[in-house]
Amino acid sequence: MKTAKRKNRHIKTAMKKQSQFKKTNLLEEVELIHNPLVDFELNDISLSTDFLGKNFSFPLSIRPITGGTLESFKLNKNIALACEKKGIGFSLGSMRAGLEKKENLKYFKFRKFCPNVFLEANIGALQLEKYSVKRINDFLTEIQADAISIHLNPAQELMQNIKTKGFSKQFNSIKNFAEESDFPVIIKEVGNGISDKTAKKLEKTKIKAIDVAGAGGTSFVKVDSIIYNRKKLNSVFGEWGIPTAAALLIAGKVSSKKIIASGGIRNGLEIAKSIALGAELTGIAVPALIKAKKGEKKLEELIESLKQELRISMFLSGAKNIKELKKTKFVLQNNLLEWTKQTTT
Ligand SMILES: Cc1cc2nc3c(=O)[nH]c(=O)nc-3n(C[C@H](O)[C@H](O)[C@H](O)COP(=O)(O)O)c2cc1C
Repeated sequence: MKTAKRKNRHIKTAMKKQSQFKKTNLLEEVELIHNPLVDFELNDISLSTDFLGKNFSFPLSIRPITGGTLESFKLNKNIALACEKKGIGFSLGSMRAGLEKKENLKYFKFRKFCPNVFLEANIGALQLEKYSVKRINDFLTEIQADAISIHLNPAQELMQNIKTKGFSKQFNSIKNFAEESDFPVIIKEVGNGISDKTAKKLEKTKIKAIDVAGAGGTSFVKVDSIIYNRKKLNSVFGEWGIPTAAALLIAGKVSSKKIIASGGIRNGLEIAKSIALGAELTGIAVPALIKAKKGEKKLEELIESLKQELRISMFLSGAKNIKELKKTKFVLQNNLLEWTKQTTT
């Protein structure tokens, strides 16, 4: 399937209800503790935070969605404008189309629309083998990125093509890239989660952060098995993946890297819970995509409502700023406790 067609179908399919996990990200099994007597007002709360050298008005970033075509440019422009207005991070989708064809580079240039935001470029770990570190660095310099995220997506790749190869080379490519690159490296999944084994392995590299991108939101196995008409694989593997809350707790235990929580984050209380569980930053993809399709104002409204819900969550748990939220106590339940017991011993 041609790149532009595949990207448009990804966007259309990802917005459908059938592309969401039936299972949850397990953040409902985390409770922050209610604190009714505080000595500050709602509007005294400071939500701002720093991540890899840039300031965020609150700890949210739009995770990678698309890039490299005219259609994706229009969508990303809306996202870039909304992120700049609201002071949050913006991530471009895979740069592959721009590396394959020089004329596509123009579809990755957004700095003029978002001069102050933390701008993340993105590439698949399988693609690292094909391009020199210099080539990718030059691309990042050209688009004035602040960092690059590299995605691990074995489940998605197999849904596209069972014959895909190169997985065994990914770790060395990542290690080498993180050593040689001028840009901070973030490793992410695409909705199936990062395990303790993977996070421990990544300790041996110079990457700066891990986005656990767990299960409970958009399932790329579902997206690609719908697109490629693989009904049986969809029914067997559609729910595959580590729930975001579990992946977050696991990564926090075994990794010294900064952690980003994404995968099914849908409200400001989930952002607050993620920060309390150890994330430095949180992220959303499909909810942003749905709003950005309708224009930058709709996305701004969504970002504002997430921010307001985060503020209320912090007020009710007695955290006056993000530093205090990181130290806020929480209670874990049932399935989530089971995940943490089984995966970190
Ligand atoms: C249409 C679409 C395209 C995506 N493309 C990429 C990509 O190029 N690179 C990447 O790292 N993740 C990609 N993702 C994964 C998202 O960044 C995110 O990890 C995933 O959608 C889960 O977040 P959500 O539940 O908030 O949607 C894509 C997601 C969607 C919906």
